[in-house]
Amino acid sequence: MTVVTDGAVLRDALGLLKDREEVAERLLEASVKHSFDPDTELDWDAPPAPDKWFWPPELVSLYDTPLWRRMPEEQRMDLARHEAASLASLGIWFEIILMQLLVRHIYDMPVTSAHVQYALTEIGDETRHSKMFARLIRTSGTPTYAVTRLHHNMARVMKTISTTPGSFASTLLGEEILDWMQRLTFPDERVQPLVRGVTRIHVVEEARHVRYAREELRRQMVTAPAWQRRLVGVTSGQSAQVFALSFVNPKVYTDVGLDRAEAVAQVRASGHRREVMQTGAKRLTDFLDDVGVLRGAGRRMWRSSGLLA
Ligand SMILES: [Fe+2]
Ligand SMILES: [Fe+2]
Repeated sequence: MTVVTDGAVLRDALGLLKDREEVAERLLEASVKHSFDPDTELDWDAPPAPDKWFWPPELVSLYDTPLWRRMPEEQRMDLARHEAASLASLGIWFEIILMQLLVRHIYDMPVTSAHVQYALTEIGDETRHSKMFARLIRTSGTPTYAVTRLHHNMARVMKTISTTPGSFASTLLGEEILDWMQRLTFPDERVQPLVRGVTRIHVVEEARHVRYAREELRRQMVTAPAWQRRLVGVTSGQSAQVFALSFVNPKVYTDVGLDRAEAVAQVRASGHRREVMQTGAKRLTDFLDDVGVLRGAGRRMWRSSGLLA
């Protein structure tokens, strides 16, 4: 589907849309069957295995750079532990933003509809996730890695005023790339059992969130006025730039005894890292392209974020 320009295209696009209530009812059924309480589901007291990674090495930002090759294995594993904590911190930030966006989304809707009931269910999932990520950070013995004050405040504005399609485009950005990494993490036997458990729970519950946000964004891109569709491209392009910059907090490098400027420069120059980020974003950028978000200035901003080839 491309940007809607006339009645015929609009009718075609509407043919692709699934019934909002039907989608929500199916997601509610799946939530009853596959929801987890991380506090009882996972063994939080087991000591970490000394020979296991907190994050798959190929997904660590410095992997395969000259600096990485010079680092002893112990320092690489330490960096993986700090990057896992940085991603968990980022995850909590996204989820707190998302919860507010969802509350704003349903504020004017019929409260007994399945669509609203599912949004409330998703908020419930995210409260458990954020607590689970925080507990993982505490258990890992690492600091919490907050985003910069500027990004923190930019998101404050975004989550307060963003239009609904913009909210769902940002939601997907927050969910899909981390989800791609987590799908590689939970089956990986080199990884700490606790991290595998956390990522498995998150992947199962997140699949529903992605479905809900995608269906809603597709629906809204068909009905939104042209100015709003163009705005979504630009705001999501800006979110992609913030996302790429804040993805791994550079403080992790100093915390494991590396030179921050050198590490950041090597990550920027890393072909492996670029490929990881673009592959991780591919499922999302293909979808955004399909629903008409990646046009004009917005597309250029996505490119400059490094997430779109
Ligand atoms: Fe989540
Ligand atoms: Fe989610």
